[in-house]
Amino acid sequence: MSALRMRIAIVLVSLGLLAACGPIVRASAASRPYVRADSTLDAGRYLVIAGGCNDCHTPGWDQSQGRLPESKWLMGSDVGFRGPWGTSFPANLRLFVAHISEAEWLHLVRAGTGNPPMPWTNLHALSTRDARAIYAFIKALGPAGAEAAAYVPPNREPTEPYILFEPQQPARRP
Ligand code: HEC
Repeated sequence: MSALRMRIAIVLVSLGLLAACGPIVRASAASRPYVRADSTLDAGRYLVIAGGCNDCHTPGWDQSQGRLPESKWLMGSDVGFRGPWGTSFPANLRLFVAHISEAEWLHLVRAGTGNPPMPWTNLHALSTRDARAIYAFIKALGPAGAEAAAYVPPNREPTEPYILFEPQQPARRP
């Protein structure tokens, strides 16, 4: 095979592969990959841990190195994240799911938006099955704790403690 034909063949094969991958990339939420577990609750627990939800929504999670009992999970935080968007507080997800239906949850997972550093874009990538599992797991934890502090706009000073979530310039060396 000549070099040119070889190159054309490679391009054609690559295009074929791209075409084959296309449907996976564009797959609807229902046919996306999902976690396989013994039960829906096991899948939900796994997704909450691996998805990092406790990192922000469970006070003391990191300090406990992931050993906090489930009774303390996802009760929201009174330490806010302050940046150009204002100051946002990780919500109490146990109270949140207690008040919304599964359909409302799926809508939020699919199209929800809000303030950083909540990883909304990552949430949008969840398959319907995994999103359902997370909902079922949080719902099974049951409502507990208090509502997190309310969002504070950028021009207002928060009354709760916060983490400054903005790039800082390092001190100049002499
Ligand atoms: C880096 C921190 C962070 C992580 C990680 C995180 N969140 Fe959040 N989350 C937040 C903050 C902050 C808010 C409040 C956002 C706002 O004010 O709009 C929030 C809000 C939410 C809300 C909206 C609640 C409401 O009252 O409208 C949901 C639902 C939610 N998070 C679910 C999750 C789930 C599920 C995960 C794990 C897959 C997760 N979050 C991971 C920080 C985080």
